[in-house]
Amino acid sequence: MSDRVIIFDTTLRDGEQSPGVALTVREKVEIAQRLQRLGVDVIEAGFPVSSSGDFEAVREIARTVSGPTIAALCRCEGQDIEAAVRALEPAAQARLHVFIATSPVHMEAKLKLKPEEVLQRIARFVREARQHVDDVEFSAEDATRSDRAFLLEAAQVAVEAGARTINIPDTVGYAMTDEFGELIRFMRAGLPAEVTISVHCHDDLGLAVANSLAGIAAGARQVEVAVNGIGERAGNAALEEVAVALAARRDFWAVHHALNLGEIYETSRLVSQLTGMVIQPNKAIVGDNAFRHESGIHQDGILKDPRTYEFLDARALGQGSRLVLGKHSGRHALRQRLDRLGLRYTAEDLKRMQETIKKRAEGKRPIDDDELYRIWESLHQEVVGGDHYGI
Ligand code: KIV
Ligand code: ZN
Repeated sequence: MSDRVIIFDTTLRDGEQSPGVALTVREKVEIAQRLQRLGVDVIEAGFPVSSSGDFEAVREIARTVSGPTIAALCRCEGQDIEAAVRALEPAAQARLHVFIATSPVHMEAKLKLKPEEVLQRIARFVREARQHVDDVEFSAEDATRSDRAFLLEAAQVAVEAGARTINIPDTVGYAMTDEFGELIRFMRAGLPAEVTISVHCHDDLGLAVANSLAGIAAGARQVEVAVNGIGERAGNAALEEVAVALAARRDFWAVHHALNLGEIYETSRLVSQLTGMVIQPNKAIVGDNAFRHESGIHQDGILKDPRTYEFLDARALGQGSRLVLGKHSGRHALRQRLDRLGLRYTAEDLKRMQETIKKRAEGKRPIDDDELYRIWESLHQEVVGGDHYGI
């Protein structure tokens, strides 16, 4: 089995389906250009039949972004395939992503189709998609709540009809990690080796990244992710978390991908800014606090050797490690910050400044350079006034 993992980015499709997010065509193109620079293998640009805006965006991305394969989503419906084919026309490498649900609740309540009818639709529409492009992916929506034998049969029908990639979505974020790994192992064993198995995990139980990694360990070689983990409800597996886990612990996973990790931070900021979805400060890899240290013991360790409290290289991920001055910070970090700002101080200054910082930072955001300068300045004005040094 190849050790190369295909990174399939769905920020512009599943991510854009996040409640409250609506990107313009221009914004989608800007994100797609960033994703290209980041080095993703596949950009799922949208769902062309769903709106004229989505159609336009997919077409514009297909026209202007080269390098990654451009994918478009379609249900097992003729009009969906037709719209996706038209939107993808200008793409150098196009993929049709055809899906239908395979779980009992979706087939009965939503599709109102019998399992045999679902299989017939898969065969018919995957074959139809293959008449337009060589690269067809089939997704069994709600795979993790589907009957396993039926899921495998659906995937085999799709492969028989020409699908090259079989995606196993945990659509409602239902699967437990070991269980999902086991499902992927089962699917891998039942499908031809040349078919790529893909995983697409939602984060309803906070397991999307763990489940995606378990899927890769079990033989999936494509992972569907979104920048900052945006997507339906609790979101998709976060691109940055999956990609960095695979790269930073390659010793463990023994697979690789082609992402340029130095672009991750800027990509994350752009997506946050354009979607209006804020990044929580403690978010792994891209959160404001991901490489910040405030407590004295940690700051002391970092100053002695950053490896003490950072096993990831912040700079390689587009961020710098930062020592924050707050109520928990120690004198080492204060000294370092004053030195960096070129401010002179005595041992007594340090003690008094630290007391002031602790008081000010109580229940507040950390002290930035401007505020530190003002504290330093007020101390020195006092010196001139002679109040504290007995001049
Ligand atoms: O979550 C899901 O099942 C999907 C499919 C359309 C791939 O997003
Ligand atoms: Zn999804």
